[in-house]
Amino acid sequence: MGIIGTDIKKAAKILSEGGLVAIPTETVYGLAANAFNEEAVTAIFKVKNRPSFDPLITHITKGTKLNELASEIPEKAKILLEKYWPGPLTIVLPKTKKINDLVTSGLDSAAFRIPNHPITHTLLESVPFPLVAPSANPFTFVSPTTAQHVADQLGNNVDYILDGGSCSIGLESTIVSFTTNTPKILRLGGLGAEEIEQVIGPIKIQTYSSSAPEAPGMLTSHYSPGKPLLVGNIEQLIEENKEKKIGIISFKKVFPTYINDVLTPSENLAEAAQNLFKSLRWMANQPVDIILTEFVPNHGLGRAINDRLIRASSK
Ligand code: TXA
Ligand code: MG
Repeated sequence: MGIIGTDIKKAAKILSEGGLVAIPTETVYGLAANAFNEEAVTAIFKVKNRPSFDPLITHITKGTKLNELASEIPEKAKILLEKYWPGPLTIVLPKTKKINDLVTSGLDSAAFRIPNHPITHTLLESVPFPLVAPSANPFTFVSPTTAQHVADQLGNNVDYILDGGSCSIGLESTIVSFTTNTPKILRLGGLGAEEIEQVIGPIKIQTYSSSAPEAPGMLTSHYSPGKPLLVGNIEQLIEENKEKKIGIISFKKVFPTYINDVLTPSENLAEAAQNLFKSLRWMANQPVDIILTEFVPNHGLGRAINDRLIRASSK
């Protein structure tokens, strides 16, 4: 269909005219619009079927004057962004009026990130506005990590998909909020909590508040692969689900008599993260009734992987 390509100038033109372009980042693909164009921002919510209470991340570049968009940048936030931008880190700060209420779902804070991908870097440098970009998937579904994933699900509703290959991290950014005196992690993601603590000291992790979510995208029903998924001891889960057609996504062990995808034969958490969403999509398209998975070692990227598995398993 020609909707996938690598023409950055074309993408910039579409965005300038209020269109929607899917963009590659190191975490996952985003569905981008001009952050200063209300109609384009509204279109993002429509295309994703995203509830209006779930705010968007504003993607900026090194050259963006963050102090025009955020009314306050605490010292610890500065330290973090200087160390980890561009990268898989999103920072929530009190916002100024320049950020539209549509973007933040009426909150008086806004989320910011400088993504680390050469194509999107060039794109952001070539337009005179920041880009709001949620993950380029329908609401509650697994995030896309290739251009084809985006085309499969949103192909008819986006104007262009910039192809930047497979996402190198494969999990969304880690979100850190600085709206209160003590910073908090609202979403575990591509930057390990340990790496954050190394530079700003101990930090609270508050990722489960499904009744009144502070990061509304963290509702437990997120990351659905489209089929029932169970997390636990795989051998035991096999016993308990004998009558069903089983698909297995394992960390490192091979299950040769089943439809099986191994996340990382070499027990490398970065590789497991890269493969996770791809694997969930692939498995959901296999002739299986149920997907069995297991937790991975719970440190670094492993914590974000386990977080996504729990959410993918909730009904
Ligand atoms: O890696 C990523 O962050 C990707 C790429 C495309 O940059 N984007 C992404 O966006 O994952 P999205 O919309 O799928 O998730 C954004 C999350 C949501 O959970 C939302 O609730 C939270 O960010 N968020 C946005 N603004 C917020 C705010 N002002 N306060 C708290 N949470 C906020
Ligand atoms: Mg998302």
